[in-house]
Amino acid sequence: MPIFPPPGRLSLTIDSHELRRAFSAFATGVAVVCARPRGGDAFGITINSLASLSLDPPLLLWNLRTGSRIHEMWQRVDRFSVNVLAAGQDDLCWRFATAERNTMDDGEFTVSDAGAPRLPGCLAWYDCAVEDSYPGGDHVINIGRILAVERRDDREPLVVYGGRLHDLGRERDDEAS
Ligand SMILES: Cc1cc2nc3c(=O)[nH]c(=O)nc-3n(C[C@H](O)[C@H](O)[C@H](O)COP(=O)(O)O)c2cc1C
Repeated sequence: MPIFPPPGRLSLTIDSHELRRAFSAFATGVAVVCARPRGGDAFGITINSLASLSLDPPLLLWNLRTGSRIHEMWQRVDRFSVNVLAAGQDDLCWRFATAERNTMDDGEFTVSDAGAPRLPGCLAWYDCAVEDSYPGGDHVINIGRILAVERRDDREPLVVYGGRLHDLGRERDDEAS
């Protein structure tokens, strides 16, 4: 049964469980956003709302739930890193998706030139400065200006689909941009 309201009935309430299930049909990668807020401990949060936004200037975006404990800390963040998880980094995904385990000890990360905590062993990494934020319903859209990037070719991505982690499927011949 379709869950989206037909034209003219845009106020129809959508069941949040169904919507979550529909959103999870869009397979994505998984990343951990890491930062050290002014006067606070370094933390990480697992996200899959990462999107490339602009090449010039270099921008990315990700969405943060306003009810999250991290949302309060984010007000004191200037620099952050986005760590794209590689296949096999399932533990990091689940650990930074758990509220009580979001903060990091000093030995768990290195510090980038811009001063953001950085996780080892990831597939790709972006060093960012906080650029802007916009309200987006029960989330905030965070835009980061990319200061540095690194990408490894010797790893495969971790993929999330249907609320579960996967390895990448079979490669096709056609090239996507
Ligand atoms: C695969 C995956 C993707 C997630 N993506 C997001 C996201 O894009 N934005 C977000 O705010 N939370 C996301 N979460 C949930 C946060 O990781 C989780 O709420 C947070 O780490 C726990 O702290 P909190 O309870 O204070 O929010 C995701 C969780 C998982 C497992």
